[in-house]
Amino acid sequence: MTAPERLKFIVLSDLHLVGEDETSKGLDTFVRLEKGIAAINARHADADFVVLAGDLADLGFRGEEAPYHRLKAAVSALTVPCHITIGNHDSRDLYVKVFGETERAGTGYIDKVIDAKGYRVILLDSVTAPGAEHSHGGQLAPSQLDWLAQRLDEAADRPVVVVLHHHANPLLTKVDRIILENGKALADVLNRHGDVRQVIAGHVHYTSTAIWHGLPFTTLAGGHYNVTVPLDPEAAIDQLWGPAQMAVVLGDADLTLVHFDNYLDGNIVLENA
Ligand SMILES: [Fe+2]
Repeated sequence: MTAPERLKFIVLSDLHLVGEDETSKGLDTFVRLEKGIAAINARHADADFVVLAGDLADLGFRGEEAPYHRLKAAVSALTVPCHITIGNHDSRDLYVKVFGETERAGTGYIDKVIDAKGYRVILLDSVTAPGAEHSHGGQLAPSQLDWLAQRLDEAADRPVVVVLHHHANPLLTKVDRIILENGKALADVLNRHGDVRQVIAGHVHYTSTAIWHGLPFTTLAGGHYNVTVPLDPEAAIDQLWGPAQMAVVLGDADLTLVHFDNYLDGNIVLENA
């Protein structure tokens, strides 16, 4: 009996890359990315592709271009294809300057469609608030919601997974101050489809799962650091700690599964926030 054809892809998020000889929160985030890529090549070389879910650079929004060049060089070591969108620490213009104009969808944003193994995977650029150079909150533009509806209609016959930087569903902690502001509008569009298997985000630097408006949502901690957040919207973040975490998404006709691969620094406490 042959095994069913199964989609496998990796999500890395929140790389927060710095320039040469720089660190962020005391960590060399470039070395951490290199270790993540080595882990993918060693353990997940059978993946169909990798997705980077934004906050590629730590200070891209302040005009730092070097991290994008370093990122481009680093991902060239991946043995599987890599698809990228941006987060609130990024500059869309700098990203496009380094990675090319073809990274922009018809929306003008860094949105993408990947069709593989009977699935459609859709990347959404959630950093579209007009005039906001660096607002930590997220937003999807009306043109993106229209674009998304069309991409979903085209894929009416197959399951869909969406990846974006910002969390859309409330997490009932302080991070809801930097939530995707029009998450309900996103959910309304996604519910047109009827077989959205996951909506995966980074941004919050911790792991969560939820069902919200009938849709499954996941956040992964990402590559920089993990936070402990009290379940109280007013309480501050407790501490920053390891591990660096990637999500491993597996999908066939019946099952869509997210594993979390903590590839670095499982138990290191970095500092009090
Ligand atoms: Fe973020």
